Amino acid sequence: MYRTACSLIAVAIFAIACSKEPAEVAVYDPAHDYFSYANIEQFVTRHLELDLTVDFEKEQLRGSAVLHMERLDPLATEIILDSRGLDISSVSFTLADSPMVPAEFTVGEEDPVLGSPITIALPTNVEITSELSVRLEYATGPNASALQWLPPKLTAGGKQPFMFTQSQAIHARSWVPVQDTPAVRITYEAAIHTPSHLLAVMSANNNPLTPRSGEYRFEMPQPIPSYLLALAVGNIFFAPLGDQTGVYTEPEVLDASAFEFANTQDMLDTAAEMFGPYQWGRYDLLVLPPSFPYGGMENPRLSFITPSLLAGDHSLVAVIAHELAHSWSGNLVTNGTWRDGWLNEGMTNYLESRLMEVLYGQERVDEENVLGYKELLLNFERIIPERQALAPPFPSGDPDDFQGTIHYHKGQLLLHYLENGFGRETFDEFLANYFDDFAFQTITTERFLDYLDENLLQTHPGKVSREQVEQWLYKPGLPADAPKPHSDSLDRAAALAVAWSQGEVQFDEIPIAEWSPQAAVHFINSLPKNLSEEQLGELDAAYGFSDTRNAEIGRTWFIQVAERQYRPAYDKLEQHLNRYGRTRLVSPVYRALAENGADLELAQEMFANAKGSYHPITIAKINTVLPPGSKSENK
Ligand code: BES
Ligand code: ZN
Repeated sequence: MYRTACSLIAVAIFAIACSKEPAEVAVYDPAHDYFSYANIEQFVTRHLELDLTVDFEKEQLRGSAVLHMERLDPLATEIILDSRGLDISSVSFTLADSPMVPAEFTVGEEDPVLGSPITIALPTNVEITSELSVRLEYATGPNASALQWLPPKLTAGGKQPFMFTQSQAIHARSWVPVQDTPAVRITYEAAIHTPSHLLAVMSANNNPLTPRSGEYRFEMPQPIPSYLLALAVGNIFFAPLGDQTGVYTEPEVLDASAFEFANTQDMLDTAAEMFGPYQWGRYDLLVLPPSFPYGGMENPRLSFITPSLLAGDHSLVAVIAHELAHSWSGNLVTNGTWRDGWLNEGMTNYLESRLMEVLYGQERVDEENVLGYKELLLNFERIIPERQALAPPFPSGDPDDFQGTIHYHKGQLLLHYLENGFGRETFDEFLANYFDDFAFQTITTERFLDYLDENLLQTHPGKVSREQVEQWLYKPGLPADAPKPHSDSLDRAAALAVAWSQGEVQFDEIPIAEWSPQAAVHFINSLPKNLSEEQLGELDAAYGFSDTRNAEIGRTWFIQVAERQYRPAYDKLEQHLNRYGRTRLVSPVYRALAENGADLELAQEMFANAKGSYHPITIAKINTVLPPGSKSENK
């Protein structure tokens, strides 16, 4: 069985994964992590002890990491860890009860994507036991890719600095020397030293009552992959949302955050009822400054969240449902390598939609699913066919930007397809067992396929075949019998957009005030290409799209403004680019300007002006959609 899937992969040719630099690998090994140097067949880390000082002046984390490891291969003579830009001052070993032994180490040449391997030689003068600890004294480098150091002016309060990490996909290595692969799970503890008036929070056991002292201790008793290591430090306060849930953020946005995310406890209770017990203790949110590059990041026990969700009407909380759902798909059962990302993101999108259905009803879910489907079709236009499979070979390239959002939406559709094929009850039972059977483990696509085959396809024969599932996993586009989301309310919005443009209906006949923001987004996207500037002006005057408080409506509108070269709204467009730092909200607007045939230079200029407030991940993404101009050269 396993062979069928593998041979399908083996025939794939590698040049496809990164068309510019054909990889040297002849046969792709789907179980191998091509994005880590770590020799995990020989050693695995079980526990990490961090002791770090957060130095805002030097923009540096400094201290030590002790890795408690197990030697799996008694013949192994060296340990290889991942790092990027770390300045390592010393390495030593502790073996069972013996004292510290200094160790020889080398830091290899830096690869732009992977960073540098740290190779540590085992001491030859002492007997090596199967359990050993390695201690590294180190400091982070000036361009640590996981870290953003914000000056006070880029925070809500404007008085205190703020720093946060973003470890997924392979940035943990830029702030902790680790085996930076999702295939290894570790528990961790940390001592974090900060300026005394600031609070540190981590993806660990945050105590809402912790006094502000500058000395913080954390423990994470559940084993997690390194990409879930997370830390933030700033003028952070807490508001409870429920018994087990709450929100951390700067005081200036604390009330707005508590209002927006008021139903988080409800979401958690619903999720636990549907997917199985919540295994992580508390579930809190941390609302970050605007430069946080993602909508959310599922750091365990403490999801990191963009402030762009603060729309004032709970309309963007699907992102919270998404990050919470990762507590099962991703954090509990983790993708084996980044090429299996659909098992994290596609599965999570599916769980998110199931949660949203219970909490907000079918109409809202239909709307969100149709918007997701539209995004998938756009992705198919932009991503080469070889990367449109759910699990294509992926031996090189950047794991942060591999297949757009194809794995999110196509992965979600595969799960809806299975649900439709087997019926909700049967499929839910399968999923609950899956989370239970693979709890705190990692899983590759091929292992998932075998498990699915044994526990669903074969136990309910004649419904969905293994070959049908393989088509989703290994072929581009969508199978002919893929589900196609549908929403009556969005259909009505689209029809009104067309009718209005043709003068068949007037503004007062369009009940936009009663619509969801999702319907407004679809309305904007359904406007015919040939609208006059006058019509765009009328629209903006009637609905105030340029001044919207809803980041998704703003994103959609300003993409259209740029594509249509609607210059009267360019000032507002630029304000949008400066207000938000989340990649999804800004990068497609730059792209639309760059590609409209007239405004490439303007886009470069706007980018040069806004760049100082963006996160390095966002800057990297914009650099892929915006050819560099004289004004946006890296400053
Ligand atoms: N885990 C992702 C964010 C991520 C993905 C970081 C890949 C680094 C590499 C997170 O759960 C996510 O999917 N965020 C989405 C939210 C959305 C799909 C609801 C985002 O940021 O847009
Ligand atoms: Zn996600």
